[in-house]
Formats: sequence, structure tokens, C-alpha cells
Amino acid sequence: MQKIIIEGSKRLSGEVTVSGAKNAVLPIMAACILNEGENTFTNVPDLADVQTMIKLLEILGAKIEFEKGNLSIDSKNINKWEAPYDLVKTMRASVLVLGPLTSRFQKARVSLPGGCAIGERPIDQHLKGLKILGAKTILDEGYVETSAKKLKGGVVPFDVSTVTGTENIMLSAALSKGETVLLNAACEPEVVDLANVLNLMGANIEGAGTDIITIKGVNGLNAVKDYEIMPDRIEAGTLMVAAALNQSDLTLKNCKFEHVGTLAGKLIQTGTKVTRFNNSIRVQGTDNIKSIDISTLPYPGFPTDMQAQVMTLMCLARGMSIFTENIFPQRFMHTSELRRMGADIKLIGNSAVVRGVKEISGAPIMASDLRASASLVLAGLAAKGKTEVLRVYHLDRGYDKLDKKLEAVGANIWRESY
Ligand code: EPZ
Repeated sequence: MQKIIIEGSKRLSGEVTVSGAKNAVLPIMAACILNEGENTFTNVPDLADVQTMIKLLEILGAKIEFEKGNLSIDSKNINKWEAPYDLVKTMRASVLVLGPLTSRFQKARVSLPGGCAIGERPIDQHLKGLKILGAKTILDEGYVETSAKKLKGGVVPFDVSTVTGTENIMLSAALSKGETVLLNAACEPEVVDLANVLNLMGANIEGAGTDIITIKGVNGLNAVKDYEIMPDRIEAGTLMVAAALNQSDLTLKNCKFEHVGTLAGKLIQTGTKVTRFNNSIRVQGTDNIKSIDISTLPYPGFPTDMQAQVMTLMCLARGMSIFTENIFPQRFMHTSELRRMGADIKLIGNSAVVRGVKEISGAPIMASDLRASASLVLAGLAAKGKTEVLRVYHLDRGYDKLDKKLEAVGANIWRESY
């Protein structure tokens, strides 16, 4: 097992390049099930979750090569339609193969994702959408089984804005008979990136990025070549918070301002300087961090995947800030670890009241999930003394060598096994 050790309170400065987006590449990899060719991608992040999706697609019969950000997925020989519990339990996003497998084989058997540290994460909307497209779904020994003669178009009104739900039904409808309309669809940039890839494969999708998406089913899809995966806006956001700490000064390369606009607006309210450039953003921290309130919402609202990281910053702000978590109401596993470092945080229902303190101090702390681990690494950067972040496998699921990137701009950070 590995841990990350940080000697904190060091000012960071320099340039960091943002990697490709985890939450875009995973559904895009699943989309390859819908054609029988060699698909190639660039700017693919080297993440544990990408390795898990590679393993899953290989089990289904795909031939895959991945090196230095270049990924090729040959889906010609995919001949299985079962996603095993052993893999799905390590990564919920595996559920994204349910729609494509049902479309390709008119049946699928996918393990139901289990519990999650960030809270309740049902897939009822995924199943509702598949039923509307004509699939039968049953639950058997912890697996979802689908069967359908041929998926047909329909109107799918989502009860909640769900990112992977929207993606799964978009994937299911691409080759279905007739037209599908998704209502209250998720508007996240990752949904748009997936629609771009499907349309390059020959699909007919309009409205991605809005809450009404129309998919006219087509008879077949081709392989996509050299598609560049979009930058990871959550990694970019995490690095923006790193720059807001210790009066640091970072320029993030290869990221899109419009994807982090809401976060940038919040950081500016704290007194942090944010400068927009063509394909990069400069962030300069202040010595007088002001407190702000945060309420998480679906895109373009404030992302729940940045709640924990901004909370670290607010631990050192002047005054009180209130965090309201509307997407995953229990997503506060990081707060007890931040308190161990001297932060003042009280939980009330799906809110956290944070009173800024003069300083936090290093301590051994435990990561519980992906974004919580990022907030603890940021806390280690800000803390006086030494911090040890245990269970960093959570971090490696969604960050491509974050510690190496921080070290390159001056952080005193390294890994040790234990
Ligand atoms: C995606 O998860 C992301 N994961 C999550 O990022 C992110 O936190 C989340 O969207 C919200 O932005 C990927 O894209 C792989 P949802 P997803 O379905 O799709 C409820 C990270 O750190 N809901 O949009 O699973 C659900 O309980 C991860 O990278 C239902 O009730 O999230 C939640 O309250 C963590 N029924 C809300 O909708 C359903 O069938 C939004 O969840 C589906 C969802």
C-alpha cells in the first residue's frame, strides 16, 4: 500500500499541464462496443479507472493497446455481454457498458454497483430509460439482466439530472429504431464529449450540452480515429485550489475556462486572482482568503466533485462558510480528517459549517474516496509540518500523477510504501 507525505506551507509556482478527463474517457471507451473496428484516442489519462475499463473491455473480447496517452480499442471480436462483480465493485462507471451491450447483443448481464463512500447512488434512471427503449430488465443474484428484440426510440423524462444515466441511454439509443428524446438530461461537458465521439462514429445526436437531447437511431456505427479526449475540469479545479493556497502562482495549460467558470467565480470571491488565457488559466493566491458559501448543483452549477477541495481552502479563510451538498448529501467523509488537522467544521444534515482557522497542522490522515483524497493532499500542502495521506489508491483512480505535478512546481511531496 502507498502513502503520500507532504511537508507543507510551501509556495508553489510554475506551469502544470492538465490531463485528459476521467469522466469523459470512461463512457467514450464503452461507446466502442457499438462498432466493430479499431478506435483510436489521444490525451487519455493514465488512471486506475482507465485500467479497470480496459480490463472490462478485454474480458468482453476487445483488443486494446495503451501507451503514453494513446489508446486503441479494437472492438471487432467483442463476443461477451457479462460485466463481472469483481470489476464493477471497484468502479461504478462500469455500469456504462449496460446500454451498449444491450444494443449490440440485445442482452446484457452487468453486476449492480454496490455501496459508495460518497452516498446513495442508485441506477433506477438507467433502468427506466432502457425499459422505455423496449428492454426487459431483471435483477438476478446482484446482476442486472437486460433483454430486448431490438431497442426502439422513445421519450425518456429523467426524474433527476444524472450524468451516467444520460450517457447510458444516449449509448443505447444511438443504434435503436426511430427517435429518442432525453428530457432533463445532464448538461455536463463530458456528455458533450461522448456525443461528439458518437456523431464522429456516424450517430445522429443533437442537443448535447442542453437538457433536451434528440437521438435519431442509425443502422450502424464506424470506428473513430485519433479523437482527443477533453481536458479534466476537476483536475484543473483541484490545481486551481492548490494555487489559491500559500499565495501560490500556477498557470494551468490545456484547460478550458468555460468548463471551470463557476469555480473561477467562487475563487475570485475569496480574493484569489484568476486570469483567463486562450487554452490556459493563471491562478494567484492571496494572503487574505475570504470566506464564501457553496451549494453544489448539476452543471453548469458548482460541481460536487470540487466541494471537498474548496472546503480545504475555506478551512483557512477569514470568517464562516456554509457548504450545502445537494447531489450526494452525505459526501463529507473528508471533514473528520480535516478536523484531525485542526480545522473547525460542523456537519448539519447535508450542510457543513466551516469556521476559518489561522493554520492547520500536519497529521497522518486517511483517504476515503477520490475527491476526499484530493482535498487531503491540498490540506497537506497548506499545513504546518508533515502530513501523511494513507490509502492513496483512491487518488490514483482519478488523478494522473498529481503528486509528481505538484512536486514539479515546488511542493515538498513524495510517496512511500507501508
Ligand atoms: C457522475 O456520477 C460522475 N462520475 C461523478 O464523479 C459525479 O460526482 C456525478 O456524476 C455528479 O456530477 C462519472 O461520470 C463516471 P449522477 P453519476 O447519476 O453519473 C441520483 C468523481 O469523483 N441518481 O449524475 O453516478 C444520484 O443518487 C465521480 O469523478 C438517482 O437517483 O452521478 C445523485 O444524487 C464521483 N438515480 C444524482 O442523481 C439514478 O439512476 C446525480 O448522480 C442515477 C442517479
